Amino acid sequence: MKSMHAIDIDTVEMTLDIMKYAINRISNTNPELGSPKKEELLDKLVGTTITEKGIGGEKAFQLFRDILAKAAVPVDHPRHLAFVPAAPTRAAILFDLVTSASSIHGAYWMTGAGGIYCENQAMKWLVSLTGLPETAFGVFTSGGTAANLSAMIAAREYWRSLNDENKAFKALLITSSGAHSSIISMAQVIDADIILVDDHGEDRLTGDFLQKKIDGLSAIDRKRLFAVIATGGTTNAGIIDELDTIAQVCEKENLWFHVDAAYGGGALAAPSVRHLFNGIEKADSITIDPHKWLFSPYDCGAVIYKNLDHARKAHSQKGAYLDIFKDEGAQGFNPADYQIQLTRRLRGLPLWFSLAMHGTKTYEMAIERGLELAKFAGEKINSMPHVELVREPGLSCVLFERKNWNPTDYRNWTYDNHKKGFALVTPTKWTKNNKTKTISRFCFINPDTTEEDVVEILESMK
Ligand SMILES: Cc1ncc(COP(=O)(O)O)c(C=O)c1O
Repeated sequence: MKSMHAIDIDTVEMTLDIMKYAINRISNTNPELGSPKKEELLDKLVGTTITEKGIGGEKAFQLFRDILAKAAVPVDHPRHLAFVPAAPTRAAILFDLVTSASSIHGAYWMTGAGGIYCENQAMKWLVSLTGLPETAFGVFTSGGTAANLSAMIAAREYWRSLNDENKAFKALLITSSGAHSSIISMAQVIDADIILVDDHGEDRLTGDFLQKKIDGLSAIDRKRLFAVIATGGTTNAGIIDELDTIAQVCEKENLWFHVDAAYGGGALAAPSVRHLFNGIEKADSITIDPHKWLFSPYDCGAVIYKNLDHARKAHSQKGAYLDIFKDEGAQGFNPADYQIQLTRRLRGLPLWFSLAMHGTKTYEMAIERGLELAKFAGEKINSMPHVELVREPGLSCVLFERKNWNPTDYRNWTYDNHKKGFALVTPTKWTKNNKTKTISRFCFINPDTTEEDVVEILESMK
């Protein structure tokens, strides 16, 4: 039987086909805005692909290229302004191919040294953006969810190590009502209770509100409380909690201070808004997603700790066959010791290559472009009679409404634009003074989005 690992004419042809597709796709500045199809329809169009003998690379690739890739939305489409889109640089995408081709295990220095060295160079830059002390460091994860989870586990284990009583309690953490859904899900994963602090219409968590909440806790809940999670750029509105005063409260109350800057963290590199993050340098841990506003391909998150020892105590795995990796002879930094995963892809490598190629100044400019587009959209909305700004843009998020529209109008407009292959802009909800309404939202990440794109989308609401 033919070996799957042999190089033959079929492998060569398949390689050429795939490289040609990859080059075309990477160099395409305006990819088709694909849309989903029902599974039954895909079944009809594609049929069975997994068979005993295999259908061959040419056929499988043709099905993917001509049908399946078109049934998905490219996150880097310049008029994809929904959720948190992405816009990986061409250098980063290409290096994602290199990362796969290089087959390096990224868990331990002993086997991954050269790749981990590159990741660590990129990490040094990330850490420098936060202003944390030089002892701080971090690792790349599969995304913000895994980074938040890794940090929460480190925080809880540190708290448990403080005294035996803490080991008996169910842990409790506080976050704001604007926190990302993954915080609530990850609290469930670690079986911790969670309190959402209402900001009473202030749109962000402040030290004052936090202190009042802590003061109002029962004695037992105060003992259970181990961490506060602030947000450095809420996903819905780009709001940054008042990190400075929250840090002061955490210090006074001896609580772990985590900042979830999965979306907003990229803006730490933007001089025009850096001051909004003041206080982040006092965090015990921080989440930043390079696959959001630092132009990495999926998937790449990062968790940074002020004190790596706390993370290592929580995450380092032990096992007879792992001892050799921890030996002096292995000579270096082991990413597996600082987050939840053992075997890991070197997911920081594409970021490293792109940063090394373009330099940090180019990153700064590309991030400022997202902020500039948000400002432009805000001004444009203010100048158009049929739409209205809900609040001033927060980072690169713009919340706005179409006057006299109900939720069905927003939904129809979204689907209509998507079906036409014109744009993906989705509805969201906004609550103020206990009143929730359906509105729309732009989130700008892609520096290739133009002012004309913004105007055309707004005009499509007329
Ligand atoms: C603030 C924030 N935290 C966490 C996450 C979860 O990150 P991921 O989807 O990379 O797991 C997101 C995703 O949008 C986010 O915006």
